[in-house]
Amino acid sequence: MKCNKLVDAGRRQFLRGGVMATAGAVAATVMTPEQAKAQALARVDYPANRLANVADLVVNEPLDVAYPDADSPGVLLKLGQAVEGGVGPDGDIVAFSVLCPHKGWLMSYSADDKTLNCPGHHSRFDCESGGQQIWGHATSNLAQFLLRVDGQGDIYAEGVGELIYGRLSNVL
Ligand code: FES
Repeated sequence: MKCNKLVDAGRRQFLRGGVMATAGAVAATVMTPEQAKAQALARVDYPANRLANVADLVVNEPLDVAYPDADSPGVLLKLGQAVEGGVGPDGDIVAFSVLCPHKGWLMSYSADDKTLNCPGHHSRFDCESGGQQIWGHATSNLAQFLLRVDGQGDIYAEGVGELIYGRLSNVL
């Protein structure tokens, strides 16, 4: 009998805690007007730009593209095996900015080791690992374009994973 009362008291305490936690969660999602304004400014609306069709790509041959606008050169790649951020039927299609994140030099693709290489100060970025920097002066990874492939095989860029060199916002 005494034991049942203890269990019941414990259950009520537990339920009260749950109600308080829920109330706290609701309070946490209510933003002040200033917070809402700051969040709206931080949000970037990316265009959905068609870059190419899956049929246009040859394994390990870069295709020049630009995203999110003509002043942001990039490269579209079919790497031949599924990789981080890869899309398409084989999960191997990726795209990156070719502006080096160090000082904006234009980089070139090396098919030998599937890297993008900077002639400025020799930074190197691994296209099979989401543009991870593997050598050099840059202090951030390469900006990867976020891709989607539709039912017809058209490849669209719909966002960018890092800040493109020289920009305060990826969308001007
Ligand atoms: Fe590319 Fe300096 S501009 S490493």
